[in-house]
Amino acid sequence: MPGKCCRSELRSQKRTRKREVAEVPTSSTKGLSIGVVGGCGHIGLPLGMALAQKGMSVTLIDTCADRVAKVQAGNMPFLERGAEELLPAVLASGHLSATTSLAAVSGLDVVVVTIGTPVDEFLDPGVRSFDRAIDGVLAHMVDGQLLILRSTLFPGTTDRLARLCIERALRIDVAYCPERIAQGYALEELVLLPQLVGGTSPSAARRACEVFGKLGATTLEVAPVEAELGKLFANAYRYINFAISNQFYQLAEKFGADFGRIHAAVTKDYPRMAAFSKAGFAGGPCLLKDTMQLAAFNHNSFVLGQAAMMVNEGFPSALVESAKAHYDLRYMTAAILGMAFKGNSDDRRDSLAYKLRKLLTVECRRVICTDVYISEPDFVPLDTAIREADIIFVGACHDQYRELVIQKPLIDPFAYVGTTQHEDIDNGSSRIHWGVSGRGVPVQRARSRRAG
Ligand SMILES: NC(=O)c1ccc[n+]([C@@H]2O[C@H](COP(=O)([O-])OP(=O)(O)OC[C@H]3O[C@@H](n4cnc5c(N)ncnc54)[C@H](O)[C@@H]3O)[C@@H](O)[C@H]2O)c1
Repeated sequence: MPGKCCRSELRSQKRTRKREVAEVPTSSTKGLSIGVVGGCGHIGLPLGMALAQKGMSVTLIDTCADRVAKVQAGNMPFLERGAEELLPAVLASGHLSATTSLAAVSGLDVVVVTIGTPVDEFLDPGVRSFDRAIDGVLAHMVDGQLLILRSTLFPGTTDRLARLCIERALRIDVAYCPERIAQGYALEELVLLPQLVGGTSPSAARRACEVFGKLGATTLEVAPVEAELGKLFANAYRYINFAISNQFYQLAEKFGADFGRIHAAVTKDYPRMAAFSKAGFAGGPCLLKDTMQLAAFNHNSFVLGQAAMMVNEGFPSALVESAKAHYDLRYMTAAILGMAFKGNSDDRRDSLAYKLRKLLTVECRRVICTDVYISEPDFVPLDTAIREADIIFVGACHDQYRELVIQKPLIDPFAYVGTTQHEDIDNGSSRIHWGVSGRGVPVQRARSRRAG
């Protein structure tokens, strides 16, 4: 959703500290040797490239042979700003390599773990798969190395792991340093965001601070469990925040009011509402998962987080119900613009646009989908989707949709379509344009309108 995670503040910092994308140190530059386990994923790969760019010798270690081959060939497996230029440059400099072999771990100074940590079908953290992966890593580690856990972890995992190493007489330093970037913007944010460092010993903390210091990032030392909880608190806070707006959106709808205009009005020149988020889909691989990790940590009692899950996960259904109140969807073709879990991303993991498609498939004559970055056999080009649709839903705010003028019923919870690049989208706009073009047109509660 637009406006997520105070991106405007970060953007202004980015403008002042522009990254030198393809500038890579010469191979004579001395640096640490660092292995990134899960190194071809959304977190591991940008981190590995950023460290390589700063002169470290980085080995990406990943079980996915396809991704490793792609990276070795200099091709990005996913969209990441600035990475298409940087990847070939760091490979050519000799500072970055990729392998599927975990054995590579043993010859390195530092090992960073960035593998996925999903929740299972009961919304509990999949601790066992993480433990198995860590066992594999520890089997190759040797005394004197530093192990940095970077994946989002269930609280207590880092201290537990440090105890396990002592039991196995493996004398390594262990630290937890959570990743906090917004996916797709890692190369910019890795150097801008302060890094939380939770060392299980003073030496682990000092060494981990040195690693992130080499990126140019500031570091903040906390206890390991504080870093673990801090990461989960941040994502749960954002998830609850989005749920508040999504619930308010539905309340506004009930009263025939325009949430976009309310949002614009109450946030304008009123700093106390600066954190009031916009409405939209809060999907993706992190927010729900991390909120549920916190619930599991608290013996499945996290009332605010669980309520947020109901609101956010139920939001596609609320939009469909709202549309049904105005249109007879049975005779309509619905188009969804944007299937990624967020704007300007090619990541479909846990995207609520897919949930919307499922709901619409039950209600509509036909559902067609389009996306700028994701291609699937049944997706259609944007102009086809707009031409063939009777009603249009916005699923993800890709830049390409911003200036569209749509003269069809438009369900746009983000209040995104119809705003221009130069226009402050905080000015507010109608969330649901009932058969009108442009924006800012008052919502008409045209309950009698039916398509036939
Ligand atoms: N994606 C985000 O925006 C984001 C932001 C902050 C934190 N995180 C956290 O970072 C972690 C990684 O997330 P991601 O989005 O990069 O996941 P991802 O699925 O994109 O990447 C994980 C990578 O690990 C590899 N892998 C899995 N098991 C492995 C093993 N045993 N050994 C070696 N490689 C293995 C996979 O092949 C994959 O390439 C998760 O804990 C996530 O919660 C993600």
